[in-house]
Amino acid sequence: MADSISAADALRARRFGLFLHWGLYSIAARNEWMWHRERLPVAKYEQYLKYFEPDLFDPGAWLDRAAAAGMRYVVLTTKHHDGFCLWDSALTDFSIARTPWGRDLVGPVVEAARERGMQVGLYYSLIDWHHPDFPIDGLHPLRDDPEALAANDRRDIARYRTYLHGQVRELLTRYGPIDELWLDFSYQNHVHEGTPVWGGKGADAWGAAELRSLARQLQPGILINDRLGIPGDFVTPEQYQPSDPPTRDGNPVPWEACQTLNGSWGYDRDNQDDKPVDLLVRMLIDTVSKDGSMLLNVGPTARGEFDPRAVAALDGIAEWMRRHARAIDGAGASTFAPPADCRYTQRGDRLYLHLFAWPFETVHLPGLAGRVEHAQFVHDASQIAVREPVPDRPAYATTPGGQDAGTLTLELPVRRPEVAVPVVELFLRG
Ligand code: GLC
Repeated sequence: MADSISAADALRARRFGLFLHWGLYSIAARNEWMWHRERLPVAKYEQYLKYFEPDLFDPGAWLDRAAAAGMRYVVLTTKHHDGFCLWDSALTDFSIARTPWGRDLVGPVVEAARERGMQVGLYYSLIDWHHPDFPIDGLHPLRDDPEALAANDRRDIARYRTYLHGQVRELLTRYGPIDELWLDFSYQNHVHEGTPVWGGKGADAWGAAELRSLARQLQPGILINDRLGIPGDFVTPEQYQPSDPPTRDGNPVPWEACQTLNGSWGYDRDNQDDKPVDLLVRMLIDTVSKDGSMLLNVGPTARGEFDPRAVAALDGIAEWMRRHARAIDGAGASTFAPPADCRYTQRGDRLYLHLFAWPFETVHLPGLAGRVEHAQFVHDASQIAVREPVPDRPAYATTPGGQDAGTLTLELPVRRPEVAVPVVELFLRG
């Protein structure tokens, strides 16, 4: 998709999606970078092939749960940095075909998404720690292996490039229309966990321009992310919330934040950093209030299920969404500036005030005096009283001073509603 206006529209229509990181590392259950961290020899990592058998795999159940949480698209790791392919690629046998499961895992996820009217993105790692022609560099698991390093100049990036393009061709021709291609990642002059990475790779290594044209030729409507080393259709802040909507050359650029449930992308059994539901909901609201999309990750277990903590997170979001979807779906940034600890989202003449902290009795809304016809909580449609400003009233004893001209005041109950984030719906006057 060439022009960024349509990319922005497409992302806006998606808004909230499910990222899935799944592969051999799910068996290790200690983060998808474990091979890199533990510097394992190739044969040792390959052992996991023998044990990958996701007998509880049920993509319909995954996506029903995601859809209930308000997610409208899914992005699946078809191959991560370890090089293991979730589909039966004609170009390698380091794939699902060599596991006890033995059958394609990409197609069933794509089909389950389509059946539910969800869009589909495919994540594909540009980095490949398994391919024999991928030159060893500072991120590679063999980076300290003297024998492998001695043979490093026999690795031929041009041959790897042919493989990479061939695999992307397979993915973009086997599964019907694909909405998003999520390539990961370029790392020239890159610093990883505080250390500069030697041998980093970028656009030249990948044949970026050619790969992008190939993808567009095979899938004319596809959106491509920004990690190929050349500009993409959207940018991908990872594990942080931008303080302001991102820009490129001073202009707003479509963006999709990718976020984890606990800091790890792959299933990480002993991880204790689960974000509480209300924090996840606030992150989604913050994203929409800045006109972005949020891709929230689950790392399924090696048996093919979402673990109980992922289930609780998605179900908690679903519980909030059941009542508050209208403040998210089809909504985006507002031109009004919200008061402290609040975010606005807006859909036409409906302005949504998301209260991240619960104030005592009143909240003041600059610029909204005379503009609000009716105010109510979203969760129960109960009316909220509004008070127009009396700018020259002095404060005295129990009488608060009048607000500035232009500032509308809402009168809130003392008790905070029991929802993850309370939202007030403001019906604006035409
Ligand atoms: C990264 C990581 C990775 C994860 C991805 C998701 O760059 O290398 O493990 O898949 O980002 O955004």
